[in-house]
Amino acid sequence: MKIAILGAAGGIGQALALLLKIQLPIGSTLALYDISEITPGIAIDLSHIPTAVRVEGFKGEDASQALQNAHIVLIVAGIARKPGMDRVDLFKINADIVCNLTMQIANIAPKAIIGIITNPVNSMVVIASDVLKTMGVYDRKRLLGVSTLDVIRANTFVSQLKNKQPTTIEVPVVGGHSNMTILPLLSQIKDISFSQEEIIYLTKRIQNAGTEVVNAKVGGGSATLSMAQAATRFSLSLIKGLQGRENIIEYAYVEGDGEYATFFAQPLLLGESGIKQYLPIGKISIFEQQILTNSLKELEQDIKLGKDFKKQII
Ligand SMILES: NC(=O)c1ccc[n+]([C@@H]2O[C@H](COP(=O)([O-])OP(=O)(O)OC[C@H]3O[C@@H](n4cnc5c(N)ncnc54)[C@H](O)[C@@H]3O)[C@@H](O)[C@H]2O)c1
Repeated sequence: MKIAILGAAGGIGQALALLLKIQLPIGSTLALYDISEITPGIAIDLSHIPTAVRVEGFKGEDASQALQNAHIVLIVAGIARKPGMDRVDLFKINADIVCNLTMQIANIAPKAIIGIITNPVNSMVVIASDVLKTMGVYDRKRLLGVSTLDVIRANTFVSQLKNKQPTTIEVPVVGGHSNMTILPLLSQIKDISFSQEEIIYLTKRIQNAGTEVVNAKVGGGSATLSMAQAATRFSLSLIKGLQGRENIIEYAYVEGDGEYATFFAQPLLLGESGIKQYLPIGKISIFEQQILTNSLKELEQDIKLGKDFKKQII
């Protein structure tokens, strides 16, 4: 199994590389790529950790060596938020980066499963899909926007409020990965009930958790360590699916069946070639339905922003 991280020298990239070096299956290869000079050094640093995971590091403008024979490619390259910025403020710079890297993936590793972490995820996945389509290698079952951080944050906040073991809680989070489009389905958590006040508090906290970190880091960036853990969980689930393990389910932002929007975060059954089945979001409460209805406009705008970018690339 080979996993490539594009943007590996950044805050998320380095922490993610460390977690994967420790947790990838025996015999895997971890390929690190970044424009930053220090990338080969990060690979050497990690390679001194005694696990049976080979680490390679590449710097510069060309990601092809990192992409060669990759089964999974994670795009984390790009700029992150500072206080006062919304995810959409990152659009222009990150759109160019994601576009460029996706072209390289299409050329070198067209069969790889791609996980997009770079924000704004709601638009970046759309851009990547258009690049892959234009280059004739698009398969919607192999392109996923990583929204796992919303799930692990929700699990943490619910367990804190209800005094439960965090590992026993699994909160479905659907919609998208920005503001109102982040929709935690608290009504679907088994054996826990919430007052209306608790539901409002938790929903807002989960939706604003990214901004909570951005403000607390006072200009030093956005979530990196929790995101690295989220991306590790996501990657290990993809790998289990690729290995043919049964019942591997993750939530991610994908081009699904279009019931709510052309791109939407939903539960997915993972399999040997990426997404095996698009699962329904299930029964939701009136409160959740209201948020879903109100947030679709924002999601459609984010999707349109991504679609409109296509005009510049073809
Ligand atoms: N999906 C999520 O839930 C989530 C959560 C947090 C952050 N993010 C996003 O992840 C991205 C990265 O965040 P970070 O904190 O690691 O940022 P960072 O600035 O620490 O790291 C970004 C890295 O990308 C590299 N880079 C820039 N252009 C590149 C290119 N063309 N090719 C290869 N590498 C390139 C930089 O050299 C840098 O090392 C941001 O867009 C951020 O908003 C997403």
